[in-house]
Amino acid sequence: MKKSVFAVGLVAAISLTSGAAMAADAAAGEKLAKQRCVACHTLEQGGANKVGPNLFNVVERGPNAAEGFNYSKGYADAAAAGFTWTDETLDEYLADPTAFLRHHAKDDKARSKMTFKLPKAEDRADVIAYLHTLK
Ligand code: HEC
Repeated sequence: MKKSVFAVGLVAAISLTSGAAMAADAAAGEKLAKQRCVACHTLEQGGANKVGPNLFNVVERGPNAAEGFNYSKGYADAAAAGFTWTDETLDEYLADPTAFLRHHAKDDKARSKMTFKLPKAEDRADVIAYLHTLK
C-alpha cells in the first residue's frame, strides 16, 4: 500500500517538472525578441534583411531561404548538408550559432555571421515559441 502511494506521487512529480520545463511562453519570447533580436533582424512579413535575414515565417521557410540575404559559407554548407528548423535545431542554433554550423556543416572552421548567443534555455524556449507565431 505504502509503495503504491509513493509510485503515484512520483508519477505526479515527474509530470509536473516536465510540464514546467516545456511551458514555453510565446509572449515572453516576443518581448525578448523585440529587445535582443531586432538589432539584426526584422520580424514582420516583407521586412528588410539587416545584419541578419528577415525572420518572418523562418520555421516553415526553412534555412538559407531569406531572399537576397548573403548567408555565411558555413551556414550554406550546413543547409546543403540538410537540416530543417525544429524546436531542437533552433535551440541548438540559438545556444551557439558557430558550434551549430561546425556540427551540421562538419567543418570545424565554420564561423557564423550571427555573433550572438542566447545562453538561457528558458529564453530560447520562449523565443522559439514566438518564432512559430511568425507566419
Ligand atoms: C548581432 C546580430 C544578430 C543578433 C543580435 C541576432 N542575430 Fe540571428 N542572425 C544574424 C546573422 C548575421 C544571421 C545569418 C547567419 C549566417 O549567415 O551565418 C542570423 C541568422 C539567424 C537565423 C537563421 C535564419 C535563416 O534564414 O535561416 C535565425 C533563426 C536567427 N538568426 C534567430 C535569431 C534570434 C531569435 C535572435 C534573438 C534572440 C537573433 N537571431 C539575434 C545576426 C544576429
